[in-house]
Amino acid sequence: MDYAISAEGLVKRFGETTAIDGVDLAVRTGTVFGLLGPNGAGKTTAVRILATLLQPDEGHATVGGYDVVRDAHQVRQLIGLTGQYAAVDETLTGAENLLLIGRLLNVSKREARQRAKELLTSFQLEEAADRPAKTYSGGMRRRLDLAASLVGRPRLLYLDEPTTGLDPRSRLELWELVRGLVADGVTVLLTTQYLEEADSLANEIAVVDHGKVIASGTPADLKARTGAQSLVVKPLIDTDLNRVLSVVSAITGSSPSVEGQVITAAVTDPAVLPNVVRRLDQEDIAISELSLRGSSLDEVFLSLTGRTADEKTSSPGTGTAADTETETTEEVAV
Ligand SMILES: Nc1ncnc2c1ncn2[C@@H]1O[C@H](COP(=O)(O)OP(=O)(O)OP(=O)(O)O)[C@@H](O)[C@H]1O
Ligand SMILES: [Mg+2]
Repeated sequence: MDYAISAEGLVKRFGETTAIDGVDLAVRTGTVFGLLGPNGAGKTTAVRILATLLQPDEGHATVGGYDVVRDAHQVRQLIGLTGQYAAVDETLTGAENLLLIGRLLNVSKREARQRAKELLTSFQLEEAADRPAKTYSGGMRRRLDLAASLVGRPRLLYLDEPTTGLDPRSRLELWELVRGLVADGVTVLLTTQYLEEADSLANEIAVVDHGKVIASGTPADLKARTGAQSLVVKPLIDTDLNRVLSVVSAITGSSPSVEGQVITAAVTDPAVLPNVVRRLDQEDIAISELSLRGSSLDEVFLSLTGRTADEKTSSPGTGTAADTETETTEEVAV
């Protein structure tokens, strides 16, 4: 099989913090691979290693067959990177930003202008092309950022939380743009905190937590493992809580979580809903809330790790590590 990215045993430490702790990845050419995980999981660190902006302490990785440490220069020719924080120059206009990158990539003035125009059109930024980027909305900025990473027509694109902070419509628009790139044969490595985003875009997902891959597979695999949906039940009378709990565990076969009077259980088979209703009715238990909804990342986490994504069980070392970091910290458009 043809892998655009392959990594084995990547480890990166910042002082006391082990940001990534033995990560293996294999991303097939022409697909979208999603790194899904909560804040601090190590997603950006992994992306920066694969983008040659950081060197791993252990393990190795290749991108397009080139080693990210030894052949960093070749790797940079292949990739485009849209960092977690917008990298465009605020004082320049959209067009100027794209032109500048074209020039940095050593293409002729005419070609750079042509490419900028093309990108501004396909990213619906034509009208804003001559306005300083600081006047752009969040969604426009993200599009400009994405356009900036595409100036050099990369075969591989790294998107680090591309839709964080976007409204639902801008998010959908960005997803469409990404799908278009994939249809053109671009391989995409995407990091996200949203299960829904990984689900919608990625062919394969690796769930990362505390620097480790804790589950991986296709979205369908993961959902089958973790429960695609969550059943939410709340008894009308508080004292019925335990009875409801035992009905829910018996029928879903999972261990529900309880918050106040609300019971939540991961379910893979929507047929549990009528079964729960029937059983509660048979046992004469009144319910004030009963619903089935899509699982959030938190619930996937809960189901995989027994804790929620923001619950800090073994919180990695704090602050002090920052000054031990010597490599470049700028996210450059490559
Ligand atoms: N340059 C650095 N110096 C010190 N510690 C760092 C540095 N970069 C990352 N870390 C630490 O490594 C861990 C992983 O961070 P990373 O940025 O990779 O997480 P992330 O999954 O991208 O999180 P987020 O969703 O918040 O972007 C965190 O504990 C973070 O504090
Ligand atoms: Mg990050």
